[in-house]
Amino acid sequence: MSEPVRGSSRHGELTIDQLVELQPGLGRLMPEISRCYWILFYAAQGGNWPLAGHEWRQLQNLFNLAATTRPKRAKDLHSFQAGVMKAIEVAIEARDWPRFEKAYREGIDLANRLHVTTGHAEIRWKLPAEPPKDMDLGPGPGET
Ligand code: HEM
Repeated sequence: MSEPVRGSSRHGELTIDQLVELQPGLGRLMPEISRCYWILFYAAQGGNWPLAGHEWRQLQNLFNLAATTRPKRAKDLHSFQAGVMKAIEVAIEARDWPRFEKAYREGIDLANRLHVTTGHAEIRWKLPAEPPKDMDLGPGPGET
């Protein structure tokens, strides 16, 4: 039998299988998704639409990463992207707050339904009542 492929750093050696095992699953990615989805809401509400666009792209990257490392969840993750995330993208592009809020809140409901169907009924995400305090959520200079 051939030796497993290994990579090394100054800290030691790992096999490819160990590296694969280390890739983040939903338990590690969902807290990041949660934070991006929180900022997304308040950026759009505050009028920082470019920041909303940035968070939207971050979320897409995180969902794609999650679908790669957890292929069993790919169908659910991609359907969330094709439905809710697409509707949010359209609203961001149009800078249309009512449309955005509707799609966003549908996203909360769908995510929580998916938490139930994936065996995590205990995870009920809710939008924090307060905006994040470390980001400027208002329009940028020259924007209204
Ligand atoms: C914007 C949408 C979503 C938000 C805000 C969200 C939020 C969260 C949060 C906060 C957790 C708990 C993380 C922790 O342990 O601290 C979680 C876990 C989880 N979420 Fe989501 N979620 C979203 C979308 C989805 C979607 C589309 C799926 C579809 C598969 C999903 C499946 C799961 C699963 C399976 C877990 C449990 C992971 C584990 O601990 O193994 N979520 N989510």
